[in-house]
Amino acid sequence: MVKICCIGAGYVGGPTMAVIALKCPEIQVAVVDIAAPRINAWNSEHLPIYEPGLDEVVKECRGRNLFFSTDVEKHVAESDIVFVSVNTPTKTQGLGAGKAADLTYWESAARMIADVSKSDKIVVEKSTVPVKTAEAIERILTHNRKGINFTILSNPEFLAEGTAIKDLFNPDRVLIGGRETPEGQKAIHALRDVYAHWVPVERILCTNLWSAELSKLAANAFLAQRISSVNAISALCEATGADVTQVSHAIGTDSRIGPKFLNASVGFGGSCFQKDILNLVYICECNGLPEVANYWKQVIKVNDYQKTRFVNRVVSSMFNTVSGKKIAILGFAFKKDTGDTRETPAIDVCKGLLGDKAKLSVFDPQVTEDQIIRDLSMKKFDWDHPAHLQPLSPSNNKQVTVVWDAYEAIKDAHGICILTEWDEFKKLDYKKVYDSMQKPAFVFDGRNVVDANKLREIGFIVYSVGKPLDSWLKDMPAVA
Ligand code: NAI
Repeated sequence: MVKICCIGAGYVGGPTMAVIALKCPEIQVAVVDIAAPRINAWNSEHLPIYEPGLDEVVKECRGRNLFFSTDVEKHVAESDIVFVSVNTPTKTQGLGAGKAADLTYWESAARMIADVSKSDKIVVEKSTVPVKTAEAIERILTHNRKGINFTILSNPEFLAEGTAIKDLFNPDRVLIGGRETPEGQKAIHALRDVYAHWVPVERILCTNLWSAELSKLAANAFLAQRISSVNAISALCEATGADVTQVSHAIGTDSRIGPKFLNASVGFGGSCFQKDILNLVYICECNGLPEVANYWKQVIKVNDYQKTRFVNRVVSSMFNTVSGKKIAILGFAFKKDTGDTRETPAIDVCKGLLGDKAKLSVFDPQVTEDQIIRDLSMKKFDWDHPAHLQPLSPSNNKQVTVVWDAYEAIKDAHGICILTEWDEFKKLDYKKVYDSMQKPAFVFDGRNVVDANKLREIGFIVYSVGKPLDSWLKDMPAVA
């Protein structure tokens, strides 16, 4: 029986391994992590991450050929294929701080693999890593190998949170990079055989190691660039009276452009886009390509601009101050169908409003109070470290309350900011909402989920990103 072990039981390691276990009943899959609470949750009725369809997959395989454990060394030692899916945060100190990937966790995983292994292994990079990481990892493994052969592969993950199970069941492609040596090719075939249980072979792309590593960074940079492009156009729409939804539709029907990732919003978030672009920027700089680095840096700058622009719009519309005013924040996760808040635009928007002394009442159907309070007090990049290395839960911020009901968050508020596109925000009884708020009642729709005209008929002043402005908002221009 082939044995697989995955180091890192996070958003990637958990769902990917659960699907491998489901589709390959004859393979034994162990997912290991140093974070005991996370492993306990994977072994409980309440999985540590929310992902549609995940519960069913885990329930079917757990205890059969899928195991979650903190006994990292034992499972690594027993396995034939070791996936490494640990955090690769942005460095906060030293060379490349604020840009380069911090490979501390990756390196310690590699050293441990070298220490405990007693048989040959294929080591698979699942984490998103800088180009040429495989070379560094190979050096660590071969230096300590004690006669054992390690073959390294790059198998970057393209799943998107919120649709992880769907993406894993039916991926556009699986990418496997390896050395162009007989051992490298043999390892590629072994991993290809695992995916071939359910992925058509023509969708399993095999490349050299560096192409696979770079393709992941490039794919995320291209996706984020589409969002920043449409968000840049949204600012111009507001200035000119064009409607960004109409513009997106018009350009998206061009088959060369395509319709996806063209929704204007308060900005992109998630654990990957910013981190991976910063990483790409750093690699460009290290390779003497400052123009290329600046090109990609601009994608992040536009994203930051979009969040600042949103905050300025809120403050300027409400008579240039939100001091002491209650603002309801609907949605905190970085997108719908996930409870993940890493790099969510809600953090910067809330911090901006708190900077102007607003009182925030936050509701998100999948995010806990503890997480929101932590996020609002954490320093940049702190979030991307294993939970036990993050700052302890801070004391309650008096300007922020977190509630478990949208109507409760909205009661007596002066304004509502919609920051995540949860379907339930479309279906609220906005007449009831209006009646419970202070007047004038404002809605700032950062995801274009509400029917602005209907809300205006009720009496709201509505701002929708990239849409023609209410006369009220035109008279109160927001300069970012
Ligand atoms: P995560 O933070 O949810 O999970 C990483 C896990 O690794 C944590 O539970 C941590 O405790 C564990 N860990 C760290 N060092 C360890 C060690 N030495 N031994 C055992 N466990 C250790 O991170 P996530 O989101 O799963 O991402 C992992 C990698 O996958 C990152 O490189 C990320 O860029 C990449 N990725 C993430 C995607 C996403 O949507 N979240 C999508 C595609 C790639």
